[in-house]
Amino acid sequence: MNLSKRLDTMTPSFTIGISSKVKEMNSNGIDVLNLSIGEPDFTVPEKAKAYGKKSLDENCTKYDLVPGLKILREEIVKKLKKENNCDYSIDEIVVSSGAKNSITNALLAVTNPGEEVLIPKPYWVSYPEMVKLTGGIPKFIDTKRENGFKLSKEELLNAISDNSKMLILTNPSNPTGNVYTKSELEEIVDVCYEKGIFILADEIYERICYVDGFTSVASLSEKAKEITITINGFAKSVAMTGLRLGYTASNREVAKAMSSIQGHLVSHPSLTAQYIGYGALVECEDDIKHMVSVYRSRRDILIERLDNIEHVSYIHPFGAFYMFIDLSDVSKKYNWEKSFSIEFCEEFLNKYHVAVVPGIAFGLDDYIRISYACDEDTLINATNKLEEFIDDIFN
Ligand SMILES: Cc1ncc(COP(=O)(O)O)c(C=O)c1O
Repeated sequence: MNLSKRLDTMTPSFTIGISSKVKEMNSNGIDVLNLSIGEPDFTVPEKAKAYGKKSLDENCTKYDLVPGLKILREEIVKKLKKENNCDYSIDEIVVSSGAKNSITNALLAVTNPGEEVLIPKPYWVSYPEMVKLTGGIPKFIDTKRENGFKLSKEELLNAISDNSKMLILTNPSNPTGNVYTKSELEEIVDVCYEKGIFILADEIYERICYVDGFTSVASLSEKAKEITITINGFAKSVAMTGLRLGYTASNREVAKAMSSIQGHLVSHPSLTAQYIGYGALVECEDDIKHMVSVYRSRRDILIERLDNIEHVSYIHPFGAFYMFIDLSDVSKKYNWEKSFSIEFCEEFLNKYHVAVVPGIAFGLDDYIRISYACDEDTLINATNKLEEFIDDIFN
């Protein structure tokens, strides 16, 4: 069929591929320990849901403002001030149908076809595809293992060309869980400001952070705020993945541009989801704190367990709910043909019934990503299987 050429360069989603395989195995009666999902195993807090139910009872089901409900944007402004030390007004906030939608709004508003978007490696799977689909050119930047794969000023400077328009910075990172310090971010902002490059600061995991004093890029200075489009949402922090709710905070001009684009493409996200998001902001601080403390204790269990498995190491996670595991020792021993991480993950799933994501999906083939958004028993059993698999490879 004569479909769009856009599809020619699009890589199918690894994570969706793994989920389908797991579903197929489940339907054949095979239990799988699933550590591949980037989705909280909690449900949306009841107090938040109540706002959605009430809005339906009151027939809040008509078209509303394109950039999002006024009360929701007011609450987002308060949250950004209180928790992130960022000063925004409500016309600088655009609420969208998930952070994915916010990212594509930002790309469409800022980049021209053929311009480069800088993406440090490892990266979240969808960025390169989103950049290509919106006409840009993903330009990957290698970062160093010894620096926890955080982008340095030098690496950034070396990657920038006259054609670079935007840098994508994920903090806390998916897949590593690493978190930038204030001074690291200041260096990056200085370079981007001087070179006229926008920063898309994807801070969707910002509330799931195990270090004090998380720094939002836009909080650093007026200059930082001017060039930054902050991405945030409700999927990870309030377990609202399926309700699809995200938002951007940016300067007024960019916000206006994104709102115009969204007006044509989606109008605004579902009002019911917006009311639930509003409820989450006004009522659910304790629920969020509870979820974060559970993630933290799982992370600690996982670290303890992985520290006792030979031939593996990892990037120490300070946020999000992922661990990026370095299997370079294993890859030297493993008999693979095209991609170590894909073949390793396939065998891990088929033979040991554990689902994890191959590092190649994030740009690095010697790694796997595991998610600890699952119960402790699953984590322990899966890491036991990992140890067994690695023993089998070495013996
Ligand atoms: C770094 C990052 N940004 C954005 C998203 C998308 O979030 P949403 O479900 O709100 O579209 C994800 C989801 O996995 C993510 O990991």
